[in-house]
Amino acid sequence: MKKTAIIYSFNTRKTTKVAERIREGFADDQVVAINAEDITGETFLSYDQLILGVPTWFDGELPNYWDEFMPELEGMDLSGKKIALFGLGDQVGYPENFLDGVGIMADVLEERGATLVGFTPTEGYTFESSLALRGDRFAGLAIDYENQGSMNKERISAWVEELKKVFE
Ligand SMILES: Cc1cc2nc3c(=O)[nH]c(=O)nc-3n(C[C@H](O)[C@H](O)[C@H](O)COP(=O)(O)O)c2cc1C
Repeated sequence: MKKTAIIYSFNTRKTTKVAERIREGFADDQVVAINAEDITGETFLSYDQLILGVPTWFDGELPNYWDEFMPELEGMDLSGKKIALFGLGDQVGYPENFLDGVGIMADVLEERGATLVGFTPTEGYTFESSLALRGDRFAGLAIDYENQGSMNKERISAWVEELKKVFE
């Protein structure tokens, strides 16, 4: 497989758990784990394929560590990169902003020329609005620990199998 990294905040508990499970789905050492809290533009650009962990915070916003990286991301040429997003959100607590962080991140990545992969159907989720929607799909994997934690394992493994088909 081409050079692939999974980037998420190592200071999180839930996002980290999901990231570890995703990484376990690939063969040993195929996917390098990188802490989003220390990410630099140079490191980001050194990977051909990226999996980014993006929980939504602050009523529809990115967490601080991604927000701080945004200005750098907005200046990058991401053409030729394949990027998959996994998002964490709470559809009951924040039904009007469910998974918005994924949508905010997806917009910037696409604008910079990245190819987004790993879109998923919205069946099985109930919410009012989400910036993560692209047509009738989410622009990534949607994980809701608060309300549907028992479905995580199945959702993650199905998503990893899809990524294996599109990652080179
Ligand atoms: C203060 C706060 C604001 C949140 N805002 C949103 C939101 O706007 N939309 C959403 O889908 N989830 C929201 N959530 C839910 C989180 O995304 C969810 O708890 C997620 O699992 C957090 O992952 P992390 O702890 O690994 O960062 C919020 C949670 C908190 C505590």
